[in-house]
Amino acid sequence: MSPVDTQAQPSQPVKLRPGNIQLDPQGKLRHFLAIEGLPKAVLTKILDAAESFTTAHEHREKKIELLKGHTIANLFFEPSTRTRTTFELAAKRLSADVLNINISASSSSKGETLLDMLRNLEAMHVDMFVVRHGSSGAAHFIAKNVPPHVSVLNAGDGSHEHPTQAMLDMFTIRQHKPDFPSLRVAIVGDIMHSRVARSQIHALNTLGVGELRVIAPQTLLPAGIEKMGVQVYQNIDEGIKDVDVIIMLRLQRERMHSAFIPSEHEYFSLYGMTETRLALAKPDVIIMHPGPINRGVEMDSAVADGSHSVILQQVSNGIAVRMAAMALAMRNPDGSSAS
Ligand code: NCD
Repeated sequence: MSPVDTQAQPSQPVKLRPGNIQLDPQGKLRHFLAIEGLPKAVLTKILDAAESFTTAHEHREKKIELLKGHTIANLFFEPSTRTRTTFELAAKRLSADVLNINISASSSSKGETLLDMLRNLEAMHVDMFVVRHGSSGAAHFIAKNVPPHVSVLNAGDGSHEHPTQAMLDMFTIRQHKPDFPSLRVAIVGDIMHSRVARSQIHALNTLGVGELRVIAPQTLLPAGIEKMGVQVYQNIDEGIKDVDVIIMLRLQRERMHSAFIPSEHEYFSLYGMTETRLALAKPDVIIMHPGPINRGVEMDSAVADGSHSVILQQVSNGIAVRMAAMALAMRNPDGSSAS
């Protein structure tokens, strides 16, 4: 059996404290496992680096040779489209060699442990692992078991964190509304099972957002959520009043082990985003979603495709932000920062 239980999918968030494992003694990004525990300066550095990569791309500099000669392995134990492909594009734009490993179809199904798999990939001179896993803490476990010149980026672990998603969301917000202390932001939906929400809450608070609201039925709110520095609303019409940014979340059915909502139809009528509801927010509100969207469950198509939606910009920004995280975390052979 693998040292990380691939079947365990807690419905309650697991509190992990990555501590300083994410930073090297110089305070530079070493692994990117969680937003929690990272200082504002590191988050800002990721956003600034992403901006420089966006500018380079606009100038048609498709390839940057920063990671030439480095090898990055995408280890995806859970399905993904956007996250995996944008990590792959990001690595390729930095001129790294990329290995895409679909674990469900590989040797873990033949009984090989996760550590044996890592040792084999390290023997192929992989310098960075991008890990998506159904268990909270999987990326952290891997980071503790790699040599000093190898770094680990978390591409989503169970219900814990999804730090690059949160950073691409911060980047998208900053493009539209750069003054974070003046912003009122609402996150709507399945907060309980969402690694994206947890990372966003830490990122928005670290970057000093003015007011942060979460809106969900009681059954989709983790216990003690108020302690994360958010205001809780169960009524969406009250919660989205005068907000600058709305982030909608998908109902994470694959992580629900009992009935958390009466029906999708009722959920949509109580929490779904419609044009009528959207009118309660600020006139220039932006509407976001990490994808994949369930049209007619968490939002109407008119909203998803409407003029306030920045959902496809989030996807594009995923490339620049993932380039930034990779470039900043990459190590030299002696374990020192390559950036
Ligand atoms: C998110 C995820 O996988 O956590 N999606 C993503 O990374 N684009 C959110 C989700 O699946 O709802």
